[in-house]
Amino acid sequence: MLETLGTIETEGLVELAAANDAAALEAWRIAYIGTSGRLKAAMGGMKFVSKTDKPAVGKRMNEVKGGLESAFKARTIEISGSITERSDFKGTLSDKLMVDMTEPGLIDSRHIGRRHIISRVREELVEVFARMGFTVATGPELEDDEHNFVRLNIPADHPARDPIDNFYVDDPATTAVPRMLRSQTSTVQIRVMDAAVADGAGGNGAGKNGAGGNGAGLPIKIISPGRVYRPDTMDATHTFMFHQLEGLYIDRSVSMVDLKSTLFHFARAYFGEGAEVRLRPSFFPFTEPSAEFDMKIALKEGDEPKWIELGGCGMVDPAVLSAAGIDPEEWSGFAFGFGIERLAMGKYGIPDIRLLFENDLRFLQQL
Ligand code: DAH
Repeated sequence: MLETLGTIETEGLVELAAANDAAALEAWRIAYIGTSGRLKAAMGGMKFVSKTDKPAVGKRMNEVKGGLESAFKARTIEISGSITERSDFKGTLSDKLMVDMTEPGLIDSRHIGRRHIISRVREELVEVFARMGFTVATGPELEDDEHNFVRLNIPADHPARDPIDNFYVDDPATTAVPRMLRSQTSTVQIRVMDAAVADGAGGNGAGKNGAGGNGAGLPIKIISPGRVYRPDTMDATHTFMFHQLEGLYIDRSVSMVDLKSTLFHFARAYFGEGAEVRLRPSFFPFTEPSAEFDMKIALKEGDEPKWIELGGCGMVDPAVLSAAGIDPEEWSGFAFGFGIERLAMGKYGIPDIRLLFENDLRFLQQL
């Protein structure tokens, strides 16, 4: 018996060393350590071994078995070369060698995600404005009508305040300052002006409604990207939530020229050298004069540039400045606001705004 085991061991190792590919290895495994291999057959012979010899033979048996198995493993790894050991690999070692190495993917490929296109566009916009000295300010999405309307000079009977057109959280008929989901990021203008005036008031005690502060919290140069909510019926161009980017610059002698050149530089930085800006007279309660701004941009390389309507802008209404405690005789400013989806849809040729919120990976992976 010991002799048989010795033969299996020697021949096994010699043949194993000669096995040079996956098929030869598998044949070797079947012949030697497989369930009907030579080792198994030898084990069957154990019952004929005398009681006294059994312990020694048994020990030798385990030795040979262990030796052949680890030699097989080592040879497998040697031949497989680049196939690394995987603890979660379910098949036999030789299954592993049957892999066609020209095919991708024995090792799981991980899906590396990325941020949503709206987040990426928002970050690009922030970066472009940051280069012009704008910092990012934020405000709450759960606002009140004081910041969303009153302080922005939007009177009580203005159609924009209709409860049908807003997500009120409190009943506007019975609540003095009803809370609502903000319908525009212009609310942040008010919050930033108040904070600046409070800052400036720190030194001389002239606070809001005081002597106009001492200007220590001014100038203001901010942008504010964020979500806004309107109960619109969903279609290709409307969703009940979307994103806006607000801008506000208040300083001494800021003029319409600064507004237009800021928008112009933004357009060039974001859409390339061919971009142009156009202002069309309009009306917003919180700016005077007010304008809509369009950009002429080539959406794809080689396309004819086209005018697309982007948003509203204007010179901050003196009434809005005064209400914040900023002296309109000393300070002036411009503001603008536009929809981020609209801009992203223009830039990436997205035909339907709903695609941006359905989170269908087949769409998102293309961006
Ligand atoms: N908030 C306006 C809207 O949602 C857009 C807007 C117009 C913002 C004029 C401004 C502005 O800052 O000056 O339609």
